[in-house]
Amino acid sequence: MNAEQQSARLAKYDVAGPRYTSYPTVPYWEDTPTEAQWLEHVARALRQGEGDGAGASVYVHVPFCRALCTFCGCNTRVTRTHTIIMPYVQAVLAEYAMYRERLGVAALGLGELHLGGGTPTFLDPAELAALLGGLLGSSTLRPGAQLSIEVDPRVTTPEQLRLLAQHGFQRISLGVQDFDPQVQDIVNRVQSVAQVRAVTVAARQLGFSSVNYDLIYGLPFQTPASIELTMAAVCELRPDRIALYGYAHVPWIKPGQRRFTEIDLPEGRAKRALYELGRERLEAAGYREIGLDHFALPTDSLWQAAHAGRMHRNFMGYTEAYTRPLLGLGVSAIGDAVDAFMQNEKELQQYHERIARRELPIHRGHRLDTEDQVLRRHILNLMTRMATRWTGPDATPFLEDISVRLAEFAADGLVELDAQGCRVTEAGRGFLRNICMAFDARLARRSPERQLFSQTA
Ligand SMILES: C[S@@+](CC[C@H](N)C(=O)[O-])C[C@H]1O[C@@H](n2cnc3c(N)ncnc32)[C@H](O)[C@@H]1O
Ligand code: SF4
Repeated sequence: MNAEQQSARLAKYDVAGPRYTSYPTVPYWEDTPTEAQWLEHVARALRQGEGDGAGASVYVHVPFCRALCTFCGCNTRVTRTHTIIMPYVQAVLAEYAMYRERLGVAALGLGELHLGGGTPTFLDPAELAALLGGLLGSSTLRPGAQLSIEVDPRVTTPEQLRLLAQHGFQRISLGVQDFDPQVQDIVNRVQSVAQVRAVTVAARQLGFSSVNYDLIYGLPFQTPASIELTMAAVCELRPDRIALYGYAHVPWIKPGQRRFTEIDLPEGRAKRALYELGRERLEAAGYREIGLDHFALPTDSLWQAAHAGRMHRNFMGYTEAYTRPLLGLGVSAIGDAVDAFMQNEKELQQYHERIARRELPIHRGHRLDTEDQVLRRHILNLMTRMATRWTGPDATPFLEDISVRLAEFAADGLVELDAQGCRVTEAGRGFLRNICMAFDARLARRSPERQLFSQTA
């Protein structure tokens, strides 16, 4: 395909779509479970996870940062004081204890524990030790359990890394975003290659077996030249995995994003071209695309899981095993019990109040009906295995005309279609969101005008 055809295709499929860490996606949740219902779903998922040996997952949200990166879309608050930290750690541990009591399990069998945020390494070593001691002291780790953390390299010390390694952490994800000084300056995220290198090297020396970098394309002032600069530094540092996220601009939810003007943002085709350039550079350096926005070296276990068809996707992104349920602890954390989802209170004060009343702090959620469950499996199949089949229990009336909805993708060589299934082609990988949108019945019903691709291009 020549450059002109490629550009026309990018324009045609330049339609914003969800990242499908869940189906239905959060804006379409409508049937919030009561606490008793949620616990029933969790107990059922726990039996499934234990049954096949994968175990459960715990995600802990740490909503604190030292300074605000103005692009940030995460649930966090900027603070310099540590007086609020130990009460928060105690609340998270109390929430975990409530789950265990109400489920009647003394220690939960964990296949995964992930600390995210915000910035978990905002916690000083004593605070981190209290959190980890409380969580791990009341859990049993399954063989091969994966313990992982997201860190901001600017606030991560060798002492914290040692503590994490001592507690069995082997996976670390560094927020890198972009190395161009002009981009870093406008998004208030100034960090040097040396800082990122120091944390990477220290983590490896301590035995961390997988280092991930988060990068973003579509930030203000980014150009092909700045992507080249970032990719050159990243490929030289050679993390095992890379997430290359599209910048999500939601200033009505995140007013910090108003600190730069929209004319400075690469959009549409220009934004997409930045992704394509990043992907080319990563693939030339030996990385493989393993799903939406994610790359890994063939030596990394996530690539091996993807290759063997074992990869799973949940609110934490791609994971190596199908652990279930996922318990989300802490403010705004999301839980997944296979046929139900829930999100905790999003404001710190409300979260503390609910925990003090000894309630699970459920803010909203969704119980999946039969159609949701079928469509969720298809979207998951596409996101993790690039193929799906709609036969037997995986058929549902909404899919009766799926071939019609996918016909244009097939004509453009993005999917291979037969009467009962489809497979995403190499060329189609970059349009995975559009393809998944064809399976999104709730989107189709609420926004029938919403297109899977641009009719005008
Ligand atoms: C919770 S943060 C990571 C940890 C740590 N606080 C840091 O920034 O280094 C998770 C990741 O979300 C991504 N992210 C945050 N805001 C985003 C946005 N508006 N659009 C796309 N990605 C975003 C960033 O790549 C970030 O590293
Ligand atoms: S990107 Fe990370 S460090 Fe920056 S504000 Fe968001 S959560 Fe905090």
